Amino acid sequence: MTAHTAIKNTRTADHPIHAQFTSRFSPRGFTAKSLTEREVLALLEAARWAPSASNNQPWRFAYGLRGDEAFTKIADSLVPFNRSWAEKAAALIVVASRSTVTKDGAEVFVPTHVFDTGAAWGYLALQAHHAGLVAHAMAGYDASVLAANLNLPEGYQLHAIVAVGEHGDIEKLPEVLQAREVPSDRFALAKIAGHGKFV
Ligand SMILES: Cc1cc2nc3c(=O)[nH]c(=O)nc-3n(C[C@H](O)[C@H](O)[C@H](O)COP(=O)(O)O)c2cc1C
Repeated sequence: MTAHTAIKNTRTADHPIHAQFTSRFSPRGFTAKSLTEREVLALLEAARWAPSASNNQPWRFAYGLRGDEAFTKIADSLVPFNRSWAEKAAALIVVASRSTVTKDGAEVFVPTHVFDTGAAWGYLALQAHHAGLVAHAMAGYDASVLAANLNLPEGYQLHAIVAVGEHGDIEKLPEVLQAREVPSDRFALAKIAGHGKFV
């Protein structure tokens, strides 16, 4: 039995939804299992099929596999807390977006590039869940270090680093992280959605 099957998921939805939405969560413990490049590409493939305004597909990704140079370049940008657990992940995926499209030789700003890229990350996370993996997004990194390490092209905006891998044994985590290795709750739907008005 793997450790994550022992973690109690007390999440309940206010309305009937597919179980994937409440069973996915963002743990910090990873097993030593590596991922192949094909397995990582399958996650990015799911992201690729996200919807975007005018089908602009502004999302851009760069990834590293644990043990390779790209992984180290990405891990080097993480804040110490995130690095402490995320460097044990099998892969690190950087999520960015291109903020413009080229139209008639000119660069035109795409106001939805962040919204669109958020959808792509959501697809990636759910695909990881379906593949029996976990994906944990992080905004805790030094953007200037990451941009320099990856030669971020001009016009690209960084959004997150996603740690991906097989969910590890909770007991192998430091005690302080063990307490946080549980699925978090959400605001009640009535607090975030109103009929004809924002609440
Ligand atoms: C854009 C983004 C940035 C995040 N940054 C961090 C981070 O730097 N460190 C961390 O431990 N978790 C980070 N998280 C994880 C969130 O805290 C987590 O997704 C949230 O608490 C909801 O929990 P769940 O994903 O387990 O449902 C981030 C999540 C997102 C989507």
